[in-house]
Amino acid sequence: MSLIDLNDFTPAYWDDIVALAGDILDKPQNFFGAAYGKVMATLFYEPSTRTQLSFQTAMYRLGGQVIGFDNPDGSSVAKGENLRDTIRIVSGYSDIAVLRHPREGAALAASMYSSCPVINAGDGGHLHPTQTLTDLVTLKKETGRLTGLRVGVCGDLKHGRTVHSLVKALCRYEGNEFVLISTKELCLPDYLLSMLDRHDCRYIKADNIEEVISDLDVLYMTRIQKERFASKADYAKQKDVYILNGDKLKLASPRLRILHPLPRVDEITGDVDADPRAVYFKQAVYGMYARMALIIRMLEGDKPIGSSAYCELRATECDNPNCITHIEPYLPEQFREEGHTHVCEYCEHEKLV
Ligand code: NCD
Repeated sequence: MSLIDLNDFTPAYWDDIVALAGDILDKPQNFFGAAYGKVMATLFYEPSTRTQLSFQTAMYRLGGQVIGFDNPDGSSVAKGENLRDTIRIVSGYSDIAVLRHPREGAALAASMYSSCPVINAGDGGHLHPTQTLTDLVTLKKETGRLTGLRVGVCGDLKHGRTVHSLVKALCRYEGNEFVLISTKELCLPDYLLSMLDRHDCRYIKADNIEEVISDLDVLYMTRIQKERFASKADYAKQKDVYILNGDKLKLASPRLRILHPLPRVDEITGDVDADPRAVYFKQAVYGMYARMALIIRMLEGDKPIGSSAYCELRATECDNPNCITHIEPYLPEQFREEGHTHVCEYCEHEKLV
């Protein structure tokens, strides 16, 4: 089975991964060989440091091997091969495929044609479930719990896929609440706000770190996602709005933990790094253990049967111009009904009907 959205699995499954990551961290030698003879493909159509290298080292540390590319221009993608054919071929060579792609819904699309499990390592501005597993391991290790947390999420809540996956996961645990710190332009998409309402998860919106930092247990800082803006001018208006520095941190409680999926641009100043409440560099290391645990569990799971279904080429009906259906026109149209809207299964964009 593939991992596209953490909600493909239950919170009990996430807890098991978090616990297993803790066991691996304590006794890594017990897990060497867990992936012996297995091959993981890492297909990165977008830049990456932590996600790609932590997946690769996770596989090597489990005794497995890695193939793949981090620049699609060096693969047959540059000759015009579509995602369906690439994943059909690569899944014939490997036991797990890890995919990062600039288009929303790309991982789901690839999983439909793959004969091995696909792990979503980031699909455009949509989701990033393995960053959330990393975040869950970090919260468990650094705060001792995944429940009853008041979590400030700051920065680009509109395009930040790490934020979307984190919010989707933490609202499934008892007593968590969110303080959503962003400009109006970069606030959390409506479909996620509706999801918080459906789960009776409390949230408030704020436009300023200083006013809310004193009662937070967690502050999750994020980068303004430059590459997802329609124009340079739009990005210029949003950059540098939220900067966490040592002075603002003086207002926070000693129990605060500061997370950031990284890379940071300038939203956290260097003086914060030495504060014991800043755990973002540890978080990157926890990510490797989270991915080791995930690989172990995915290798134990069922292998999907890649679809050979042929679909007619057609114009997509999804309104999101960054949806994978716009560049891979053979994909079957898939919408689910939610209230008065239809939601694209690939990118979760709502379409008014
Ligand atoms: C994030 C991503 O790629 O979404 N990076 C990561 O995987 N740790 C965050 C970002 O790029 O800002």
